[in-house]
Amino acid sequence: MTVNMKLFYEKHIFFCTNLRKEKEKISCGKHKSQELRNYMKKRVKELGIKKVRVNSSGCLNRCKLGPIVVSYPEGNWYKISSKEDVDLFIDELLIKRKTFKKNLIEN
Ligand code: FES
Repeated sequence: MTVNMKLFYEKHIFFCTNLRKEKEKISCGKHKSQELRNYMKKRVKELGIKKVRVNSSGCLNRCKLGPIVVSYPEGNWYKISSKEDVDLFIDELLIKRKTFKKNLIEN
């Protein structure tokens, strides 16, 4: 049996859009992460960037640092909290294919 090691997506982005209803509990959804994820997905499509997928995700368990985004295959974590952050993220990571150092979260 042969295994195809080629990636289906060159970049797979998971954007936490989890929204907790309890007022006292932190969640990315309370920081407009759904809106930001939708904006990122729309801009990727508008810019014609191929082989990239932007998915919503549930809680990624780094809530206090959010809104949280993780990018694979490299496994880097980012805090993306504005449309300006999204635009810079797309430019650096998805177009220039560099690490988006400005919003990188250390592991
Ligand atoms: S709610 Fe987003 S990381 Fe937990």
